[in-house]
Amino acid sequence: MRLQGKVALVTGSGQGIGRAIAVRLAQDGARVVVEDRENTAAAEQTLALVREAGSEGCVLSGDIADAAADRRVIAQAVQAMGRVDILVNNAGIERRAPFVEVTQADYDAVLGVNLRGAFFVTQAFVRHVAERGDGGVVVNVSSVHEELPFPHFASYAASKGGLKMLMRDLAIELAPLGIRVNNIAPGAIQTPINAALMAQPEKLAALMGNIPLKRLGTPEDVANAAAFLVSDEAAYITGTTLYVDGGLLWNYAEQ
Ligand code: BGC
Repeated sequence: MRLQGKVALVTGSGQGIGRAIAVRLAQDGARVVVEDRENTAAAEQTLALVREAGSEGCVLSGDIADAAADRRVIAQAVQAMGRVDILVNNAGIERRAPFVEVTQADYDAVLGVNLRGAFFVTQAFVRHVAERGDGGVVVNVSSVHEELPFPHFASYAASKGGLKMLMRDLAIELAPLGIRVNNIAPGAIQTPINAALMAQPEKLAALMGNIPLKRLGTPEDVANAAAFLVSDEAAYITGTTLYVDGGLLWNYAEQ
């Protein structure tokens, strides 16, 4: 098993893509720290799936948007599991609104979780890895919208664009510490973040028209990419984005 002996922390893994990644990494032998802001019942369920997959782990909660909570989460993970080798910055939220109506509260909520959160969890993780001195891996769950405009989701697009540059920057700065940093950019995936969309047949049909592979992605599609990027099979890959989007990003055709 390619992640035997490793400990992975997955933020926001009480549901959706985060849960699928937690389970997938467990299947590859990693012990998993399941982190969720407050829904510990859902997180406990993810942990049960980690155990079913034949591994072990623990549940931690904390608001990723808060740098002090980020330091606490990493410290508690190290205390509980002995070490953390792999960090998956998965926690993410979005708020839909026309640009002119976006409130400061919504902007702060989105940027707080998606960008500030990833920034300061990573900082706490890197301090731990640097102390240990034997390297680590960071994967950010970004979005096609780190590259592709997303009208009515300006704060989300800004957060994911920021996450792209954070990833590129840290890949260079942290390479001397033996830390690889990459993004996964999912397209439209069947998760709670898309629940409203999936309930509206017309909107869903329009979206499907943009996806060359003609289906929504599954959380497992994304988790498979994560399992690869955190493994030694990706040992020479850092500073890049792996799109898992059914071809959505570069879809263009003349009628
Ligand atoms: C967003 C979804 C959206 C998808 C494709 C994701 O990053 O979270 O709401 O459906 O991108 O546009």
